Amino acid sequence: MLRHLRTVFDLDRDEILSLFDLAREMKKYPGRFGDSLKGRTLAMIFEKPSLRTRVTFQTGIFQLGGQGIYLAPSDIKIGKRETTQDIARNLSRWCDIVMFRTFAHKNIQELAEGSSIPVINALCDSYHPCQALADIFTLYERRHDVHNLKLAYVGDGNNVLHSLINISAILGIQLSYATPEGYEPKEDVLKLAQDYATQHNSGATFEATHVPAEAVKDADAVYTDVWASMGQEDQAAARRKIFEPYQVNAELMKHTKPGAWFMHCLPAHRGEEVTDEVVDAHYSVVFDQAENRMHAQKALMYMLIKR
Ligand code: CP
Ligand code: NVA
Repeated sequence: MLRHLRTVFDLDRDEILSLFDLAREMKKYPGRFGDSLKGRTLAMIFEKPSLRTRVTFQTGIFQLGGQGIYLAPSDIKIGKRETTQDIARNLSRWCDIVMFRTFAHKNIQELAEGSSIPVINALCDSYHPCQALADIFTLYERRHDVHNLKLAYVGDGNNVLHSLINISAILGIQLSYATPEGYEPKEDVLKLAQDYATQHNSGATFEATHVPAEAVKDADAVYTDVWASMGQEDQAAARRKIFEPYQVNAELMKHTKPGAWFMHCLPAHRGEEVTDEVVDAHYSVVFDQAENRMHAQKALMYMLIKR
C-alpha cells in the first residue's frame, strides 16, 4: 500500500515506536543495512534552504545503498515550469521515493495526490514531521518510555510546534507551551490533536500559557525554535521585540525538573531564542537531535519503500 509522511498523523503509535527501534538498530549496526535500499532513488525537492535536511536525507539514502538527487527551486520551478501533479507523475516513473521542502502544506498534498511513490514532508510552513520524529527518538533513546514525559516548548507557535503537538497526541506526551499572544499554534492543529488523544486514549495533555516559567515548570525537556521562520524574514525585527521575554536562558532552565534537557531543531539564532550558555550546556541535546535526523529518516525511508 502506498504510504506518505505528510504529517506525523500518517503514522500510528505502533509504527512510530517500530520506527524508533529500527532507527536505533540502524544507528548501532549501520553495516547491516548497507544494501537494503540498493538501486533505489530518492528525489529531493527544496524550495527553501537547508543544511540538516539535505545532508541527512542524501547521506541516509546513500548509507542504505541508494542515491539522492537534489532538485533546487531553479531546476524544476515547481508549479511554474509545470504543474506539481505533472512533476509527481514524472518522478513516479523514475524514482522510488520523494521528499519535498516547500511553503504551503497544500503543495505537499498536491504532490502526494499525483504521486504513485511515497512523499515525505521535509518541512512546510505548517509542519516538520521528520524533525518531530528525530526529536522524540532522541528522548526515547534516553528514557525508552515517552509516557509521563513532560515536554515544554517556548517561542513561536510554528511548524515545529505543530509537529510536536501531533506526535505528543499520538504517543501520550504531556506538552506545555508558552507563546506570545497572537503567536499560538493554530487552533485546528490543536483541536485535531486533542480529539486524537481522546479517541485513542493516548494520555497526551496540552497546556497553553503566555508565561515561559509556567510552561517549563517541572519539564523533562525544554524546546525552542527561531522566532522568525524561513519566509518570515521581513518580520524578524518586529518579532525580536515581541519574543524577547521568551528567550531560553539559564535562569529559565532553573524552573525545570533537575537534569532537564535542552532541545532545538537548529539552526539556532544564538542570543535570540537561546543563549550560548544553554545551547552549549552539558544538558543540551541539539546535536544529537541533528544526528538523529539521519537515523530516523533512514528508518522512515526503509519502512515506506522496502518491498
Ligand atoms: N532542522 C532542520 O530542518 O534544519 P535545516 O533547515 O538545516 O534542514
Ligand atoms: N521554524 C523553522 C524551522 C527550521 C528547521 C523554519 O521553518 O524556518
